[in-house]
Amino acid sequence: MTNAARKPYIAGNWKMNLDRARSLDLIKTIKGRLGDGGDREVAFFAPAIYLADVAAVAQGSPLGIGGQNIWYDSDGAFTGELAPRMLREVGADRVLIGHSERRQVFGEPNEWMGRKVRASLDTDLLPIYCIGETLDERKANRTDRVLKKQLEAGFEQVKTVDAHRLTIAYEPVWAIGTGETATTEQVEAAHRTIRKWMAQRVGEEATGTVRILYGGSVKPTNAKEIMAIDDVDGLLVGGASLQADTFLPIIEYDR
Ligand code: PGA
Repeated sequence: MTNAARKPYIAGNWKMNLDRARSLDLIKTIKGRLGDGGDREVAFFAPAIYLADVAAVAQGSPLGIGGQNIWYDSDGAFTGELAPRMLREVGADRVLIGHSERRQVFGEPNEWMGRKVRASLDTDLLPIYCIGETLDERKANRTDRVLKKQLEAGFEQVKTVDAHRLTIAYEPVWAIGTGETATTEQVEAAHRTIRKWMAQRVGEEATGTVRILYGGSVKPTNAKEIMAIDDVDGLLVGGASLQADTFLPIIEYDR
């Protein structure tokens, strides 16, 4: 169950899906339903090419709009990359960092993560820093070690005063897009490891402000159950965030 001091955060990661028209339709539908947002924070992480349009449609609503990746320099010879300031300029207010697809498919090393998190904080883009173990790592009982290593990299340049602007997403790689979700015990244990590690790194008080989301095959049928797990403050949703009829029941998991 989420802590009263931490507003539940439901985030949709569209990845490389939808097209411009369907993106805008989805934003309009969710915006209409959200009203003033109330007691939860909702955000979409859209393909960068649609961000300006999506952010323009979301304007005037509490819907957060973010990019799915950034490079950490503010300009320079980085063909194909986007600087944090560029996302800000077109209306994004947040960004995903270290998503497992970036790490696994595109080979992003852990060593980049600290600079990416720092660059996003310095540009006022709220980062969701994604971490999680592969199936082989879990089978080899290395889950805790992997999570701590990823946390160490991401927090390399994080100060205690930054902590409240940071969100962590625990996404076991084997649960992403597979229909398989981690068990209650697995989620609980991972979130406990993450919070304990953070408390040692930035102190108890700052840690109390950091939301830890779960991601990996979240659906309307399991959202409520996952949100009830100790220390789960929100959800990072891929496939089920692509349509209003699957994403709305997740946003409204407790209704
Ligand atoms: P999924 O993706 O919900 O489709 O498993 C989650 C994610 O990758 O963020």
